Amino acid sequence: MDGNGRWAQRRGEGRTSGHRAGSRSVRKIVRLCRRIGVEALTLYAFSFQNWNRPDHEVESLMGLLTEFLIEERQAILDNGIRLEAIGELDQLPSTVRAVLDALRAESAHNDDMVLTLALSYGGQEEIARAAQALAREVAAGNLSAEDIDVDALRARIPSISDVGEPDLIIRTSGEQRLSNFLLFGSAYAELYFSSRLWPDFGADDLFAAIASFQGRERRFGLVLERDAKAASR
Ligand code: IPE
Ligand code: MG
Repeated sequence: MDGNGRWAQRRGEGRTSGHRAGSRSVRKIVRLCRRIGVEALTLYAFSFQNWNRPDHEVESLMGLLTEFLIEERQAILDNGIRLEAIGELDQLPSTVRAVLDALRAESAHNDDMVLTLALSYGGQEEIARAAQALAREVAAGNLSAEDIDVDALRARIPSISDVGEPDLIIRTSGEQRLSNFLLFGSAYAELYFSSRLWPDFGADDLFAAIASFQGRERRFGLVLERDAKAASR
């Protein structure tokens, strides 16, 4: 979800107003995804690197996050949504952590959709943590180094161990990079770059992204049966 700052700048407003508009966009898009049957939605709300933004911006983002969790609590519970969080969550202020953990626990039994907030999240950091976990298991004698394969790693990567690898990754605001998002799980994800700034990203934009996804041929490194047959003729 990128482009909040530029959205505000274009209107001659401060970055906080852009983040507030971005939060409205989040609420709209989550509702829409639930309605059209998206089973897993992971939102890159705050990166591990975002901690290095100016203090007041970090504070306003944490405030908006808390507001989101409090104000959307009932809608999340009523709509069968399980809220999850990934990232270096220990770094979050304890006030945010408290509402976050409470809603995770309260919504744990819901199974219509998993909404994962990536907070203080970095894909490289996540892989490093998985490596640490594996190293500890080897050191404890519970795992042999030879057993460390892609599946072993996958099981220790929280962004995908539960919901699986992403089918589609959407980035807004015209930037064409992943910026440390879901690095391990994005191996075969379809990427979609929208020039729309996140606060302006609406239903039409989401449907355009999904339509693009539906038109793609996913091969996962294989040859489609159709092409294999044609080639052997
Ligand atoms: C994305 O918008 C929101 C977060 C990182 C939380 P930005 O704040 O990155 O907006 P730009 O890139 O400055 O326009
Ligand atoms: Mg940005």
